[in-house]
Amino acid sequence: KSDPRLQGISEAIRVVPHFPKQGIMFQDITTLLLDHKAFKDTVDIFVDRYRGMNISVVAGVEARGFVFGPAIALAIGAKFVPLRKPRKLPGKVISEAYELEYGTDCLEIHVGAVQPGERAIVIDDLVATGGTLSAAIRLLERVGAEVIECACVIGVREVKVHLQVCENDYAQADFAE
Ligand code: PRP
Repeated sequence: KSDPRLQGISEAIRVVPHFPKQGIMFQDITTLLLDHKAFKDTVDIFVDRYRGMNISVVAGVEARGFVFGPAIALAIGAKFVPLRKPRKLPGKVISEAYELEYGTDCLEIHVGAVQPGERAIVIDDLVATGGTLSAAIRLLERVGAEVIECACVIGVREVKVHLQVCENDYAQADFAE
């Protein structure tokens, strides 16, 4: 049975056609952030799911994973670890490249931010091809974390299947489709 909070969340996300380029339907979460109830409901749904699961790391993907991740981390008693685009983190990092439509990009994590054996979740606003989340999972696994789940506010069903096939049955919680 679907969560009654989902409709309000879904309605608060603005869809902008042809942004940033022709043919893309941009899912704009800034309008969700303006709606206190929808924003709180979004965070609460993640918190309801992950509280009590012994998660000690919430990893957020730059940039919009930084909006939701810290609120979830505080509520479940975990630390927040930013996964950043290249050359943003000042300490020693490890990097993982991922494919874009044209070319590649990269995510980085600070060495020492996560200890081996820690239980982690990955938070982002949206999953499209799953390339970004896959790179996030590889980074966390390279530092010895156990990635319990990836969760996005917005997803598409086909990608969920794709991610599970690619990533060995990692569950993905996408709440507003
Ligand atoms: C968007 C989105 C995800 C990623 C999903 O970020 O916020 O991080 O794309 O795409 P994928 O599943 O195909 O990898 P974007 O690359 O626009 O970066 P930004 O958040 O820094 O603007």
